[in-house]
Amino acid sequence: MGDSVDNNTAAETAIDALKLEEKDDFVDPWNVESQSDTGIDYDKLIHRFGSTKLDDAIIQRFEQVIGKPVHHFIRRGIFFSHRDLHTILRLKEEGKPFYLYTGRGPSSGSLHLGHLIPFLLTKWLQETLNVPLVIQLTDDEKTLWKDLKIEEAMKLARENAKDIIAVGFDVNKTFIFSDLDFVGKCPAFYQNMIRIQKCVTFNQVKGIFGFGDSDPIGKIAFPAVQAAPAFSSTFPFIFGDKKMHCLIPCAIDQDPYFRMTRDVAPRLGFPKPALIHSTFFPALQGAKTKMSASDNNSAVFLTDTPKQIKTKINKHAFSGGQQTVEEHRAKGGNTNVDVSFQLLQFFLPDDDELERIRVAYTKGEMLSGELKAKAIETLQPIVAEHQANRKLATDDVLDQFMALRQLKFD
Ligand code: TRP
Repeated sequence: MGDSVDNNTAAETAIDALKLEEKDDFVDPWNVESQSDTGIDYDKLIHRFGSTKLDDAIIQRFEQVIGKPVHHFIRRGIFFSHRDLHTILRLKEEGKPFYLYTGRGPSSGSLHLGHLIPFLLTKWLQETLNVPLVIQLTDDEKTLWKDLKIEEAMKLARENAKDIIAVGFDVNKTFIFSDLDFVGKCPAFYQNMIRIQKCVTFNQVKGIFGFGDSDPIGKIAFPAVQAAPAFSSTFPFIFGDKKMHCLIPCAIDQDPYFRMTRDVAPRLGFPKPALIHSTFFPALQGAKTKMSASDNNSAVFLTDTPKQIKTKINKHAFSGGQQTVEEHRAKGGNTNVDVSFQLLQFFLPDDDELERIRVAYTKGEMLSGELKAKAIETLQPIVAEHQANRKLATDDVLDQFMALRQLKFD
């Protein structure tokens, strides 16, 4: 299969990505920007990154292996790209072990809806595939990149971990760790970081991430930290010295890290990690940028009250509707740019209902205000439920998730 071999080296692909013309979309682990109201051109991105489209054929194969429909994020193209997913499906079919790895950079106290996306899919994957999961909190990354002290970043990591736990992960199958804490508890983690660092030159990371001569050396070394959890020997207390396959659900902007990881894996005697990539969650202002915690008006936070959600969506959610009611009835609205509709694509699992809304809005039977109301009433209970679950994620519960221990798997 073409997807098991990377056609370009990580460095080549990333240099291409950096040489984009101005009119093109820009995507790297720190910035996402598109010139178009419909957002990033994801097919182009697949081509540029050298990943594989998550097409109908592999979705069918997925459903055949698990014996049920895939998650609506996959059905609707929200997870749209992958690397080596076939390998993971084959392992599942053969009853062979593998694990899931995902993570979060704790840069803000409260998460927004967009931050939930990879975790929601990861939870579904954990339940469906019945495999262990490791979750990395990169407080080291955020200390290096943001105006944050070590102590602050470590605190944010714990707070963010509670939101992650509130998504509903199984404590018997999930290990959550913060880099700055875990590195002192597990020599195998640091040993793998050094193994990886030995395999990657400055030139290569420069090509992949665009680092320059004035960047702190911590940034240059960091990609090895995010790579290490993709190798099972980083967690001897879970996997012993078994070399297990790994599947990483993540947003597509994290792919550069894992292109690098896949490059070094064979040299260290590990299987290349498989990936499943998501699109970006749009800012309320529209899909040209992603929802951002640093712009209050761009995001629905998981701490927002029902009233705040209502006000934000009514005031800021970009509408694909027409200027006047008469015009809207005549011409209809555009769901491709309408943020309220996009919110429903993420958070309204009922395919039939979503399709009815799409048709009604496109024909002009449904007005922008009505679409916004639907988005508001869909999101309010989801956020409220998250808040209730988060209350249950106490420090004690968190310590259970973060304890070095064996996990359950067949
Ligand atoms: N760098 C990621 C961020 O800033 C966090 C992260 C670490 C991650 N390991 C990961 C994300 C694995 C996805 C998969 O959010």
